[in-house]
Amino acid sequence: MSAASTRTILICSGKGGVGKTTLTANLGIALAKQGMRTAVLDADFGLRNLDLLLGLENRIVYTAQEVLAGTCRLEQALVKHKQEPNLALLPAGNPRMLEWLTPEDMQKIVAMVSASYDYVLIDAPAGIEGGFKNAMAAAREAIVVTTPEVSAVRDADRVIGLLNSNGIQPIQLVLNRVRPKMMANQEMLAVNDVTDILALPLLGLVLEDEQVIVSTNRGEPLTLHGTSSPAARAYTNVARRLRGEDVPLIDPAKEGRGLRAKLGRLMTKKLF
Ligand SMILES: Nc1ncnc2c1ncn2[C@@H]1O[C@H](COP(=O)(O)OP(=O)(O)O)[C@@H](O)[C@H]1O
Ligand SMILES: [Mg+2]
Repeated sequence: MSAASTRTILICSGKGGVGKTTLTANLGIALAKQGMRTAVLDADFGLRNLDLLLGLENRIVYTAQEVLAGTCRLEQALVKHKQEPNLALLPAGNPRMLEWLTPEDMQKIVAMVSASYDYVLIDAPAGIEGGFKNAMAAAREAIVVTTPEVSAVRDADRVIGLLNSNGIQPIQLVLNRVRPKMMANQEMLAVNDVTDILALPLLGLVLEDEQVIVSTNRGEPLTLHGTSSPAARAYTNVARRLRGEDVPLIDPAKEGRGLRAKLGRLMTKKLF
């Protein structure tokens, strides 16, 4: 596959802590499992942790910094995932890279990686400052991650403005940490509210799932072990939709009813 057909996708949000790095790791593994040669790039030089989420932190020898300086070859810096060799991580260099890195540097790195990968996912830092702009310069498409919270949606809206004015296309939305019960009780913005405000197509809907936190701490993305949890299914479906498959979205209202129904059944069993 030539670099021209490589999809370079920025994973961004504006607000921090909404699930960008988690999505990058899980989507990366899911795409790799679907046979796509996938590279994930940590562009959060200040607070890098994509290596941790992928469990690759002990295998880093070189980073994007040495590649740019010409002191190592790209292949030496890319860390291949042992269980999923279609996936490689290009680690972020020293946080001081923030002081000198330019948009052209990021473009150069991504162009090099694109030569041998089908997908390049760029994990952006929070904010809309220099670090974000550098990361954006290297991408053609974007996935905006938000939670159904007013502050996260407002930050996402500002980011979408910047992406639009920089010609990033397409821009798709992943709504993360959805809690069906809170949505049903109108304690949380509804899916339609968020898609109406942001005017983006919905690429995926990820439920609040404590397995995500467990997997983060283990350094093993959920998608590594199939689709046994709701979030793992959601991330896998994001990968399938990204590749053009028509996979229906879950309906949080039904998820909510399902949960209550299941709980109800449990209660009945216990009582009788
Ligand atoms: N769907 C989810 N359910 C539960 N916890 C989640 C979910 N998505 C992310 N998290 C947790 O939220 C925290 C922030 O996620 P992270 O991906 O690091 O955000 P960001 O990269 O946007 O700063 C992590 O502790 C992660 O485990
Ligand atoms: Mg992050």
